[in-house]
Amino acid sequence: MGEIDLIEVNSKYANDIWEFRKEILEYDMDNEDQFAGCRGLSESDSAETWINMCNLRKNEKTCNEAGTSVPSHTYMAVRKNDNRIVGIIDLRHHINHPILGTWGGHSGYSVRPVERGKGYAKEMLRLNLINAKKLGIDKFLITCSTKNVASRRTILANGGIYDSTIDVEGVKMERYWITIF
Ligand SMILES: CC(C)(COP(=O)(O)OP(=O)(O)OC[C@H]1O[C@@H](n2cnc3c(N)ncnc32)[C@H](O)[C@@H]1OP(=O)(O)O)[C@@H](O)C(=O)NCCC(=O)NCCS
Repeated sequence: MGEIDLIEVNSKYANDIWEFRKEILEYDMDNEDQFAGCRGLSESDSAETWINMCNLRKNEKTCNEAGTSVPSHTYMAVRKNDNRIVGIIDLRHHINHPILGTWGGHSGYSVRPVERGKGYAKEMLRLNLINAKKLGIDKFLITCSTKNVASRRTILANGGIYDSTIDVEGVKMERYWITIF
């Protein structure tokens, strides 16, 4: 695994964002967690459209224009040695919302299919917790489907404490809390 930084989505990475989208569309076709943490990317007609949406989502005053009532930041995990996006992760500023507070949680994430199994998700979540702390979040809700072993292990590796399992339209979702010190 190469060292990564979390960088806010921006147009310098437009081509790689579009490649990332293409790879997820092909590889995760039947995955119920397709595009976790990349809200709107699959429906966008260009990387620039999605980058604009991410920019609108950052601010409480503009996030409604991007279809969300809770502001969030979206970060690319960029590998330092080749400047390539290995994953995308978001950070919702709060979970005072009926979906986020029950099964949406503070964050979702996706790793590029060819980069999976190398430890990137664990490192992305670790860095996102540092960003969350800066926003004043110290109890972080994170969830995964009971079928998503890799996501559960990512959560557990970052100190997730199991809370409960709930049924969301037939999908069993596990809820975990991470205390950020
Ligand atoms: C879930 C996902 C983000 C994991 O990314 P990743 O970079 O492969 O994960 P990591 O390499 O950091 O591994 C995390 C843990 O999962 C385990 N793991 C990784 N792939 C696995 C697999 N296919 N089956 C079982 N365990 C797996 C790793 O061994 C590690 O656990 P450990 O530290 O206890 O050994 C990735 O599979 C993905 O993008 N999936 C599609 C989107 C998604 O499901 N997002 C999560 C929504 S809740």
